[in-house]
Amino acid sequence: MFKKKFLKKIDDIYIFDYKDKVAQEVKNFYKDDPFPNYETSDNKATILSKGDKNYYTKNLKNFIGHNKKVLEIGAGTSQLSNYLAIGNNNSIVAFDVNFPSLKLGNIFAKNNKISNIDFVCGDIFDDIFKDEFFDIVLCNGVLHHTKNTFEAFKSSIKSLKKNGYVLVGLYNKYGRFRTYIRKYLYKLFGKKYLLLFDPVLRKINKDSTKKINSWIRDQYMHPVERSHTFDDVLNWFDQNNVEFVNSYPNCEFFSNDQNYILDDNLIFKNFFQQGKKSTHLDRIFSQLLMIFTKSGSEGGLYLFLGKKK
Ligand SMILES: C[S@@+](CC[C@H](N)C(=O)[O-])C[C@H]1O[C@@H](n2cnc3c(N)ncnc32)[C@H](O)[C@@H]1O
Repeated sequence: MFKKKFLKKIDDIYIFDYKDKVAQEVKNFYKDDPFPNYETSDNKATILSKGDKNYYTKNLKNFIGHNKKVLEIGAGTSQLSNYLAIGNNNSIVAFDVNFPSLKLGNIFAKNNKISNIDFVCGDIFDDIFKDEFFDIVLCNGVLHHTKNTFEAFKSSIKSLKKNGYVLVGLYNKYGRFRTYIRKYLYKLFGKKYLLLFDPVLRKINKDSTKKINSWIRDQYMHPVERSHTFDDVLNWFDQNNVEFVNSYPNCEFFSNDQNYILDDNLIFKNFFQQGKKSTHLDRIFSQLLMIFTKSGSEGGLYLFLGKKK
Protein backbone atom coordinates (compact mmCIF):
# COMPACT_ATOMS: atom_id res chain seq x y z
CA MET A 1 0.00 0.00 0.00
CA PHE A 2 3.01 2.31 0.40
CA LYS A 3 4.84 4.33 -2.20
CA LYS A 4 7.82 4.91 0.07
CA LYS A 5 9.80 2.81 2.47
CA PHE A 6 8.80 3.21 6.09
CA LEU A 7 11.45 4.16 8.64
CA LYS A 8 10.61 1.51 11.23
CA LYS A 9 7.82 -0.44 12.83
CA ILE A 10 7.05 -0.09 16.54
CA ASP A 11 4.28 -2.16 18.17
CA ASP A 12 3.01 -3.06 14.68
CA ILE A 13 2.68 0.62 13.77
CA TYR A 14 4.41 1.71 10.54
CA ILE A 15 6.42 4.86 11.15
CA PHE A 16 7.34 7.39 8.48
CA ASP A 17 9.69 10.26 9.15
CA TYR A 18 8.38 13.81 8.72
CA LYS A 19 9.90 17.25 9.02
CA ASP A 20 7.06 19.73 8.59
CA LYS A 21 7.03 22.25 11.46
CA VAL A 22 3.24 22.54 11.72
CA ALA A 23 2.87 18.74 11.77
CA GLN A 24 5.49 18.63 14.57
CA GLU A 25 3.63 21.30 16.51
CA VAL A 26 0.30 19.48 16.16
CA LYS A 27 1.94 16.18 17.13
CA ASN A 28 3.38 17.79 20.27
CA PHE A 29 -0.01 19.23 21.08
CA TYR A 30 -1.71 15.80 21.00
CA LYS A 31 1.25 13.92 22.52
CA ASP A 32 0.05 13.98 26.14
CA ASP A 33 -3.69 14.12 25.43
CA PRO A 34 -4.40 11.90 22.44
CA PHE A 35 -7.77 12.67 20.87
CA PRO A 36 -10.57 11.59 21.14
CA ASN A 37 -9.33 8.93 23.57
CA TYR A 38 -11.30 6.04 25.05
CA GLU A 39 -13.61 5.94 28.03
CA THR A 40 -12.23 3.72 30.79
CA SER A 41 -15.00 1.17 30.19
CA ASP A 42 -14.56 0.94 26.40
CA ASN A 43 -14.21 -2.43 24.69
CA LYS A 44 -15.30 -3.99 21.38
CA ALA A 45 -18.94 -4.28 22.50
CA THR A 46 -19.21 -0.68 23.75
CA ILE A 47 -17.49 0.74 20.65
CA LEU A 48 -19.83 -1.29 18.45
CA SER A 49 -22.88 -0.20 20.39
CA LYS A 50 -21.84 3.50 20.39
CA GLY A 51 -21.06 3.36 16.67
CA ASP A 52 -24.38 1.67 15.88
CA LYS A 53 -26.29 4.25 17.92
CA ASN A 54 -24.67 7.14 16.08
CA TYR A 55 -26.60 7.80 12.84
CA TYR A 56 -23.49 9.02 11.01
CA THR A 57 -21.13 6.15 11.87
CA LYS A 58 -23.80 3.47 11.48
CA ASN A 59 -24.78 4.66 8.00
CA LEU A 60 -21.14 5.17 7.03
CA LYS A 61 -20.39 1.56 7.91
CA ASN A 62 -23.38 0.34 5.90
CA PHE A 63 -22.29 2.50 2.97
CA ILE A 64 -18.74 1.12 3.01
CA GLY A 65 -20.07 -2.43 2.86
CA HIS A 66 -17.56 -5.23 2.34
CA ASN A 67 -14.21 -5.95 0.74
CA LYS A 68 -13.15 -2.28 0.60
CA LYS A 69 -9.90 -0.50 1.30
CA VAL A 70 -10.52 2.43 3.63
CA LEU A 71 -8.06 5.11 4.74
CA GLU A 72 -8.85 7.28 7.76
CA ILE A 73 -6.58 10.33 7.77
CA GLY A 74 -6.12 11.97 11.17
CA ALA A 75 -7.58 8.90 12.84
CA GLY A 76 -6.33 9.97 16.27
CA THR A 77 -6.98 7.21 18.81
CA SER A 78 -8.79 5.36 16.01
CA GLN A 79 -12.23 4.64 17.53
CA LEU A 80 -13.87 5.16 14.15
CA SER A 81 -11.34 2.99 12.31
CA ASN A 82 -11.68 0.23 14.90
CA TYR A 83 -15.47 0.46 14.73
CA LEU A 84 -15.41 0.30 10.92
CA ALA A 85 -13.15 -2.76 11.00
CA ILE A 86 -15.35 -4.84 13.32
CA GLY A 87 -17.31 -7.67 11.73
CA ASN A 88 -16.30 -7.39 8.06
CA ASN A 89 -13.53 -8.15 5.56
CA ASN A 90 -12.60 -4.51 4.82
CA SER A 91 -8.98 -3.38 5.15
CA ILE A 92 -8.85 -0.28 7.28
CA VAL A 93 -5.82 1.98 7.62
CA ALA A 94 -5.72 4.37 10.56
CA PHE A 95 -3.27 7.15 9.71
CA ASP A 96 -2.12 9.97 11.99
CA VAL A 97 0.88 12.15 12.72
CA ASN A 98 0.74 11.39 16.44
CA PHE A 99 2.23 8.05 17.51
CA PRO A 100 0.74 7.95 21.06
CA SER A 101 -2.79 8.30 19.59
CA LEU A 102 -2.24 5.41 17.19
CA LYS A 103 -0.67 3.38 19.95
CA LEU A 104 -3.90 3.59 21.98
CA GLY A 105 -5.87 2.56 18.89
CA ASN A 106 -3.47 -0.30 18.23
CA ILE A 107 -3.65 -1.57 21.82
CA PHE A 108 -7.44 -1.43 21.61
CA ALA A 109 -7.42 -3.41 18.34
CA LYS A 110 -5.07 -6.04 19.79
CA ASN A 111 -6.96 -6.40 23.07
CA ASN A 112 -10.19 -6.80 21.15
CA LYS A 113 -8.80 -9.06 18.40
CA ILE A 114 -9.58 -6.67 15.56
CA SER A 115 -7.12 -7.80 12.88
CA ASN A 116 -8.20 -6.12 9.60
CA ILE A 117 -6.70 -2.77 10.56
CA ASP A 118 -3.23 -1.25 10.05
CA PHE A 119 -1.80 1.73 11.87
CA VAL A 120 0.44 4.20 10.05
CA CYS A 121 2.19 7.22 11.56
CA GLY A 122 3.19 10.08 9.25
CA ASP A 123 2.32 13.47 7.81
CA ILE A 124 -0.58 13.90 5.39
CA PHE A 125 1.64 15.94 3.02
CA ASP A 126 4.28 13.26 2.60
CA ASP A 127 2.58 11.26 -0.15
CA ILE A 128 3.10 7.93 1.58
CA PHE A 129 0.35 5.81 0.06
CA LYS A 130 0.18 4.45 -3.48
CA ASP A 131 -1.89 6.53 -5.89
CA GLU A 132 -5.51 5.44 -6.44
CA PHE A 133 -5.28 2.64 -3.88
CA PHE A 134 -8.23 3.22 -1.50
CA ASP A 135 -11.97 2.92 -2.18
CA ILE A 136 -12.81 5.43 0.54
CA VAL A 137 -10.79 8.18 2.21
CA LEU A 138 -12.09 9.72 5.42
CA CYS A 139 -10.65 12.95 6.75
CA ASN A 140 -12.80 14.17 9.56
CA GLY A 141 -11.55 16.99 11.77
CA VAL A 142 -7.98 16.95 10.48
CA LEU A 143 -7.42 19.11 7.38
CA HIS A 144 -8.04 22.35 9.29
CA HIS A 145 -5.29 21.43 11.77
CA THR A 146 -2.57 21.32 9.09
CA LYS A 147 -0.48 24.08 7.48
CA ASN A 148 -2.96 24.46 4.59
CA THR A 149 -6.45 22.94 4.42
CA PHE A 150 -6.76 22.95 0.64
CA GLU A 151 -3.28 21.45 0.06
CA ALA A 152 -4.03 18.82 2.70
CA PHE A 153 -7.25 17.97 0.85
CA LYS A 154 -5.32 17.62 -2.42
CA SER A 155 -2.80 15.28 -0.76
CA SER A 156 -5.61 13.22 0.80
CA ILE A 157 -7.30 12.34 -2.47
CA LYS A 158 -4.17 11.23 -4.34
CA SER A 159 -4.48 7.75 -2.88
CA LEU A 160 -8.22 7.58 -3.65
CA LYS A 161 -9.31 5.43 -6.60
CA LYS A 162 -11.37 6.89 -9.43
CA ASN A 163 -15.05 6.56 -8.50
CA GLY A 164 -13.94 6.30 -4.86
CA TYR A 165 -15.47 8.47 -2.15
CA VAL A 166 -13.88 11.13 0.03
CA LEU A 167 -15.50 12.34 3.22
CA VAL A 168 -14.32 15.66 4.60
CA GLY A 169 -15.25 17.03 8.03
CA LEU A 170 -14.31 20.61 8.90
CA TYR A 171 -15.14 23.35 11.37
CA ASN A 172 -17.74 25.66 9.90
CA LYS A 173 -17.11 29.39 9.83
CA TYR A 174 -20.66 30.15 10.99
CA GLY A 175 -21.48 26.91 12.80
CA ARG A 176 -18.58 27.16 15.24
CA PHE A 177 -19.87 30.43 16.69
CA ARG A 178 -21.02 28.87 19.98
CA THR A 179 -17.60 27.27 20.51
CA TYR A 180 -15.94 30.68 20.00
CA ILE A 181 -18.17 32.13 22.74
CA ARG A 182 -17.46 29.22 25.10
CA LYS A 183 -13.73 29.57 24.38
CA TYR A 184 -13.87 33.16 25.54
CA LEU A 185 -15.89 32.30 28.68
CA TYR A 186 -13.55 29.38 29.44
CA LYS A 187 -10.68 31.88 29.60
CA LEU A 188 -12.66 33.91 32.15
CA PHE A 189 -14.23 31.15 34.26
CA GLY A 190 -12.09 28.05 33.69
CA LYS A 191 -12.84 24.32 33.38
CA LYS A 192 -15.87 24.34 35.72
CA TYR A 193 -17.72 26.55 33.26
CA LEU A 194 -17.07 24.11 30.42
CA LEU A 195 -18.15 21.08 32.47
CA LEU A 196 -21.51 22.79 32.92
CA PHE A 197 -22.02 24.32 29.50
CA ASP A 198 -20.23 22.18 26.91
CA PRO A 199 -22.84 19.63 25.70
CA VAL A 200 -20.21 17.03 24.71
CA LEU A 201 -18.50 17.19 28.11
CA ARG A 202 -21.83 16.79 29.87
CA LYS A 203 -22.27 13.41 28.14
CA ILE A 204 -18.82 12.03 29.08
CA ASN A 205 -18.58 9.91 32.23
CA LYS A 206 -17.02 12.11 34.96
CA ASP A 207 -14.43 9.38 35.74
CA SER A 208 -13.04 9.50 32.19
CA THR A 209 -10.64 12.34 33.00
CA LYS A 210 -8.39 11.66 30.00
CA LYS A 211 -11.31 11.85 27.58
CA ILE A 212 -12.57 15.06 29.23
CA ASN A 213 -9.14 16.70 29.03
CA SER A 214 -8.58 15.64 25.44
CA TRP A 215 -11.90 17.25 24.40
CA ILE A 216 -11.11 20.50 26.25
CA ARG A 217 -7.65 20.76 24.70
CA ASP A 218 -8.83 19.86 21.20
CA GLN A 219 -11.76 22.29 21.20
CA TYR A 220 -10.51 25.21 23.27
CA MET A 221 -6.69 25.22 23.23
CA HIS A 222 -5.65 24.08 19.76
CA PRO A 223 -2.63 25.98 18.35
CA VAL A 224 -3.49 25.30 14.68
CA GLU A 225 -7.14 25.65 13.76
CA ARG A 226 -9.10 27.18 10.88
CA SER A 227 -12.74 27.16 9.89
CA HIS A 228 -14.28 27.00 6.40
CA THR A 229 -17.54 27.44 4.54
CA PHE A 230 -19.55 25.00 2.43
CA ASP A 231 -18.46 26.97 -0.65
CA ASP A 232 -14.79 26.48 0.17
CA VAL A 233 -15.26 22.72 -0.06
CA LEU A 234 -17.35 22.95 -3.23
CA ASN A 235 -14.52 24.95 -4.85
CA TRP A 236 -11.92 22.41 -3.76
CA PHE A 237 -14.09 19.60 -5.16
CA ASP A 238 -14.45 21.47 -8.49
CA GLN A 239 -10.72 22.11 -8.79
CA ASN A 240 -9.88 18.46 -8.17
CA ASN A 241 -12.43 16.59 -10.27
CA VAL A 242 -14.45 15.54 -7.27
CA GLU A 243 -18.21 15.40 -7.72
CA PHE A 244 -20.41 16.66 -4.91
CA VAL A 245 -22.56 13.87 -3.44
CA ASN A 246 -24.06 15.30 -0.27
CA SER A 247 -23.44 17.32 2.86
CA TYR A 248 -24.33 17.46 6.54
CA PRO A 249 -26.03 19.78 7.29
CA ASN A 250 -27.87 19.68 4.00
CA CYS A 251 -27.03 22.43 1.49
CA GLU A 252 -30.72 22.90 0.80
CA PHE A 253 -32.42 25.14 3.31
CA PHE A 254 -35.57 26.69 1.85
CA SER A 255 -36.74 23.66 -0.11
CA ASN A 256 -36.33 21.24 2.79
CA ASP A 257 -39.02 20.86 5.37
CA GLN A 258 -38.09 21.76 8.93
CA ASN A 259 -38.35 18.18 10.24
CA TYR A 260 -35.83 16.95 7.71
CA ILE A 261 -33.29 19.68 8.49
CA LEU A 262 -33.32 18.86 12.20
CA ASP A 263 -33.59 15.07 12.05
CA ASP A 264 -30.09 13.51 12.04
CA ASN A 265 -31.58 10.05 11.56
CA LEU A 266 -33.26 11.08 8.29
CA ILE A 267 -30.32 13.18 7.11
CA PHE A 268 -27.78 10.38 7.52
CA LYS A 269 -30.09 7.82 5.90
CA ASN A 270 -29.87 10.00 2.77
CA PHE A 271 -26.38 11.40 3.22
CA PHE A 272 -24.68 8.72 1.11
CA GLN A 273 -27.02 9.28 -1.82
CA GLN A 274 -26.93 12.09 -4.36
CA GLY A 275 -28.08 15.39 -2.87
CA LYS A 276 -28.28 18.93 -4.21
CA LYS A 277 -25.72 21.72 -3.85
CA SER A 278 -28.55 24.22 -4.08
CA THR A 279 -27.94 27.99 -4.18
CA HIS A 280 -25.39 30.15 -2.40
CA LEU A 281 -28.16 31.76 -0.31
CA ASP A 282 -29.56 28.35 0.65
CA ARG A 283 -26.10 27.28 1.79
CA ILE A 284 -25.58 30.45 3.85
CA PHE A 285 -28.84 29.84 5.70
CA SER A 286 -28.00 26.16 6.29
CA GLN A 287 -24.73 27.20 7.85
CA LEU A 288 -26.34 29.91 9.98
CA LEU A 289 -28.86 27.37 11.23
CA MET A 290 -25.99 25.28 12.58
CA ILE A 291 -25.55 27.84 15.36
CA PHE A 292 -28.94 26.79 16.75
CA THR A 293 -28.71 23.03 16.23
CA LYS A 294 -26.83 20.07 17.73
CA SER A 295 -24.01 20.28 15.18
CA GLY A 296 -23.34 23.90 16.17
CA SER A 297 -23.59 23.26 19.88
CA GLU A 298 -21.07 20.42 19.63
CA GLY A 299 -18.27 22.26 17.81
CA GLY A 300 -19.72 23.21 14.43
CA LEU A 301 -18.30 20.36 12.40
CA TYR A 302 -19.83 19.83 8.95
CA LEU A 303 -19.35 16.98 6.49
CA PHE A 304 -19.07 16.83 2.72
CA LEU A 305 -19.08 13.64 0.69
CA GLY A 306 -17.55 13.64 -2.78
CA LYS A 307 -16.85 11.12 -5.54
CA LYS A 308 -13.58 11.24 -7.50
CA LYS A 309 -14.14 11.38 -11.25
C1 LIG B 1 -9.20 16.66 16.05
S1 LIG B 1 -8.30 15.21 15.85
C2 LIG B 1 -9.49 14.24 14.98
C3 LIG B 1 -9.44 12.79 15.33
C4 LIG B 1 -10.55 11.96 14.67
N1 LIG B 1 -10.53 12.08 13.23
C5 LIG B 1 -11.88 12.37 15.21
O1 LIG B 1 -12.67 12.99 14.48
O2 LIG B 1 -12.16 12.07 16.37
C6 LIG B 1 -7.15 15.63 14.58
C7 LIG B 1 -6.14 14.54 14.31
O3 LIG B 1 -5.43 14.88 13.13
C8 LIG B 1 -4.07 14.53 13.30
N2 LIG B 1 -3.25 15.33 12.39
C9 LIG B 1 -3.04 16.68 12.43
N3 LIG B 1 -2.20 17.07 11.46
C10 LIG B 1 -1.87 15.96 10.77
C11 LIG B 1 -1.02 15.71 9.64
N4 LIG B 1 -0.34 16.70 9.06
N5 LIG B 1 -0.93 14.43 9.18
C12 LIG B 1 -1.61 13.42 9.77
N6 LIG B 1 -2.43 13.59 10.85
C13 LIG B 1 -2.55 14.83 11.34
C14 LIG B 1 -3.82 14.85 14.77
O4 LIG B 1 -2.68 14.20 15.28
C15 LIG B 1 -5.12 14.41 15.42
O5 LIG B 1 -5.07 13.08 15.87
